[in-house]
Amino acid sequence: MKIIAPSLLSADFTNLANQIRYAEIGGAGWMHCDIMDGHFVPNLTFGPLVVSAVKRCTKLPVDAHLMIEKPDKLIPDFIKAGADYITVHQEEVKHLHRTITMIKDAGVKAGVAINPATPVDTLSEIIEFVDMVLVMSVNPGFGGQKFIPSALGKIAELAEIRELTGLDYLIQVDGGVNRENTGDISKAGCDVLVAGSAVFSTENISAAVMELKNIAEEK
Ligand code: DX5
Ligand code: ZN
Repeated sequence: MKIIAPSLLSADFTNLANQIRYAEIGGAGWMHCDIMDGHFVPNLTFGPLVVSAVKRCTKLPVDAHLMIEKPDKLIPDFIKAGADYITVHQEEVKHLHRTITMIKDAGVKAGVAINPATPVDTLSEIIEFVDMVLVMSVNPGFGGQKFIPSALGKIAELAEIRELTGLDYLIQVDGGVNRENTGDISKAGCDVLVAGSAVFSTENISAAVMELKNIAEEK
């Protein structure tokens, strides 16, 4: 099954509960929350307070993508806020095994993200410990950027490693996902497709989610 995870970064925050409801009606599988600190990425968004509000608006899993420096300090707050998945960046975390273990020990699923310039083989020693690998298909920081096609090769590589090793991590893609590239992304082996502007910058949020899900599942 393919999962569409709408990114709330592009949602209308004056009407968040309804935006989440429209995405759910369209068949969204998770709610993706982009946490940015103005340091790891140039943009600044929101923290555990909003994640906790999202959690109270939906029964779907809440997926927290931490684009922040020194995430260890704040992970306990995101756990308390009710995040079901917490993803940290390979490029930021010094003791990745410790951080992943801390998340999992709290009963939360742990993901590791790689930026467009970070190769898949940097994950060779951690991949057996994670529940998800997030392939960034834009440089993190903003919604509405153009999909970087080299992400497709990384997704296929991760799918092949999974097949060869028998591991069961999910493969997630984030950035520039739209109706034109969803088929190729899905076919490459991606399980969870994050989409921000392709969902929320449209007239009909439910229809946009449904269309992406249908395209992803056709492949
Ligand atoms: C980018 C974020 C993404 C972003 C995706 O740093 O991690 O989740 O919201 O937005 P779109 O789908 O518009 O590229
Ligand atoms: Zn994200």
